[in-house]
Amino acid sequence: MLKSRPERYGTVAVSIHWLSAILILALLASGFKAANAMNAATKVEFLRFHIPVAIIVLLLTAFRIVWWWRFDVKPLPVKGSVMWQDRIARWVHVAFYIVILGMIASGIGMIVLSGAAPAIFGEPGTVLPTFTDYPPRAPHGLGAFLLVGLAVFHAGAALYHQFIRRDGLLRRMWYGG
Ligand code: HEM
Repeated sequence: MLKSRPERYGTVAVSIHWLSAILILALLASGFKAANAMNAATKVEFLRFHIPVAIIVLLLTAFRIVWWWRFDVKPLPVKGSVMWQDRIARWVHVAFYIVILGMIASGIGMIVLSGAAPAIFGEPGTVLPTFTDYPPRAPHGLGAFLLVGLAVFHAGAALYHQFIRRDGLLRRMWYGG
């Protein structure tokens, strides 16, 4: 079942969700590693992974927006759900889109303004710029912490549904049925 039904997410939505989750965790890990690298060579190594993965997340997020906008409809709230909690969940989902797109925009801004692409992807020996000299670096760092906060809150809510409410919320964000 490619599309969602009132009681569960479809295969496309489930795939986008878990693939995005894995790639964003990889971006957080590689981003913090790059930012805290002790030398330029190590930083370049992490950025050679970080930037292509970020571009995949950009394409996946664009596809996700088009998918929900044109092709699929969200399932109904899970049985017995509380209205104010549903409202917070919706805001958290919107915040994810804003922060993810902001991270991509500030990341691209950093690379364009600093002209770092040849140092990262070109000939070895090109000098890597200091990213903190460029304005998009600060929002990129702030966004990273917001994203960690959102991810912890989002995962915490899923675990609350799974183990305290026991309402099968996680099951509907997986394949089958
Ligand atoms: C959803 C997308 C993205 C996420 C989640 C993400 C995450 C991160 C994180 C967590 C950091 C470390 C921040 C810190 O320690 O303050 C970082 C650093 C960095 N990111 Fe991203 N990033 C994303 C997109 C991008 C894109 C699209 C680019 C470039 C085209 C990029 C380029 C960089 C660079 C150059 C750094 C290193 C800055 C430094 O060494 O000071 N990022 N990223």
